[in-house]
Amino acid sequence: MRLHPTAGRTLGAVGLLGLGAGAAAHVWARHIEIHRYTLRELELRILPPGTRTIRVLHISDIHLLPDQQRKLNFLEYLGMLRPHLVINTGDNIASAAAVPVLAEALEPLLQRPGAFVMGSNDMFEPAPKNPARYLLPDPRPEGMTAPKELTLPTGELARRLSEHGWKDLTNTRASIELGGLEVRLAGVDDPHLERDEMPAPAAVPPPLPAHGNVLRLGVAHAPYRRVLDSFVADDADLILAGHTHGGQLRLPGIGALVTNCDLPRQQARGLSTWQGVPLHVSAGMGASPYSNYRFLTPPEATLLTLRAPKPGPGK
Ligand SMILES: [Fe+2]
Repeated sequence: MRLHPTAGRTLGAVGLLGLGAGAAAHVWARHIEIHRYTLRELELRILPPGTRTIRVLHISDIHLLPDQQRKLNFLEYLGMLRPHLVINTGDNIASAAAVPVLAEALEPLLQRPGAFVMGSNDMFEPAPKNPARYLLPDPRPEGMTAPKELTLPTGELARRLSEHGWKDLTNTRASIELGGLEVRLAGVDDPHLERDEMPAPAAVPPPLPAHGNVLRLGVAHAPYRRVLDSFVADDADLILAGHTHGGQLRLPGIGALVTNCDLPRQQARGLSTWQGVPLHVSAGMGASPYSNYRFLTPPEATLLTLRAPKPGPGK
């Protein structure tokens, strides 16, 4: 087949345009969107009737390096929100040197009631990956599921996160009294590394608090289906997770291409439900230094306002 000379020129121009658009998208994702820190605000009516409204700050996937000043400024801003409760779903750091810097930046939030779980990036230093692995449905880091020595100071990080009272939910349960509302939390270690062990329920169910108001939260880093199922079976009122980075790259009209776990792509970020239970997946604040880009899913934290149901007519 012979192309008309003008057709050849048109194809060349389209190719150049495509290359230009790709280069522009790369610059946007790598140098602009990655710094567009955003606070999402959502509302859920899941509290027992008559309970006062609470504001829960969900932070995740900070992937901090000590010199990321704009990210540190955003953490400082979040500290000024003074939420009633902070939930941190892991992947806090990208180097050992980030631990004290993170603890300092989070200090105002660490003074609030809170709880956390860890992600794989709190245990193992980030390493370059083959970008093609990104498109696999569950691109688990090679070798990371095998037991091996941690390469980051996870214990020191947990100590710094819990020094003012945040609860470490690694395969365990905890309870936080918020004044008129008892928050009962169940958490697991990172399911992406298959370290999750759903904590057994108490042999004797804890008595209801005097005010009678209980909120049950399930907390995990990576929202694998088996873990979400466990939280549903555990009667969670709300499940919180991170890990997906909202897909990290999203396409207009399509959304996330992957979730980096077995969660459906449509649930890669934000509010959805899992077997009827509200699920909030944070797109998180960062990414590995070796794949530090975002497209159509800017770095975020979420302020969830939890309220009691609206009174019915005539009440
Ligand atoms: Fe992450």
